[in-house]
Amino acid sequence: MAPMQLQDILYSQGFGTRRICAGLIQQGHVQVDLGAGLVDCDDPLEEVDAHEGRMYSVQGVRWPYHAKAYVLLHKPAGYECSHKPSSWPSLYTLLPPALRQRPQKSAVQGVQAVGRLDQDTTGMLVLTDDGPLIHRMSSPRHHVPKVYEVTTDDPLDAKQVQRLLDGVVLDDSPKPVRAAACEAVAEYHLRLTLTEGKYHQVKRMLAAVGNKVVGLHRSQIGEMPLPEDLQPGQWRWITDEEMKRLTGK
Ligand code: URA
Repeated sequence: MAPMQLQDILYSQGFGTRRICAGLIQQGHVQVDLGAGLVDCDDPLEEVDAHEGRMYSVQGVRWPYHAKAYVLLHKPAGYECSHKPSSWPSLYTLLPPALRQRPQKSAVQGVQAVGRLDQDTTGMLVLTDDGPLIHRMSSPRHHVPKVYEVTTDDPLDAKQVQRLLDGVVLDDSPKPVRAAACEAVAEYHLRLTLTEGKYHQVKRMLAAVGNKVVGLHRSQIGEMPLPEDLQPGQWRWITDEEMKRLTGK
């Protein structure tokens, strides 16, 4: 835990350039919890330990310090997982500006979604500024299972379920893709587990067995289900314990 100047701490958390952060501090908009509750701090050069979870308040917004950001978002329908969306609002507008502006060495700033969900898909999405983690979790070699709740247009039958388990051929790959698990939980409700994430994979797999997706929700990543208290459009920090369940480490 290296001591850092207060202005650098705020900068690292996405509150703007160092100059903007120094201004916020000098103007009395910043408080720090050094152990006995939030206290005013108006010196941008004050040294503070970069302590995980230490609470700050910036313009009245409580903000825990995290060297890396790991957040969970319940994606609502009607948002695109892109910074430059074509037809729908960007999912990133659901996050506070600080998470979108965290400084990065690369050109892209802020947290990025680990894999994408379609505009009309709802459910669980992880976002982070930890590049190696994005790479690991998105890599097909890593096989992080993702569970989808699929509402179908036509009634499901045992043959469709078996074909999804055996593997279907999609147009962009000669190798059949198969569901890691697949269960018809109701006549029009399929629970499907995939360990890879090809473009529109669930929709294309269902089309390949002669059915059609009319609703798609991601309910679990790794061993972690979408928390019931996280409403559509809401986000929150991921705890260390949850991180282990998400990544299997
Ligand atoms: N498969 C799809 O078809 N769409 C998604 O959003 C996710 C998986």
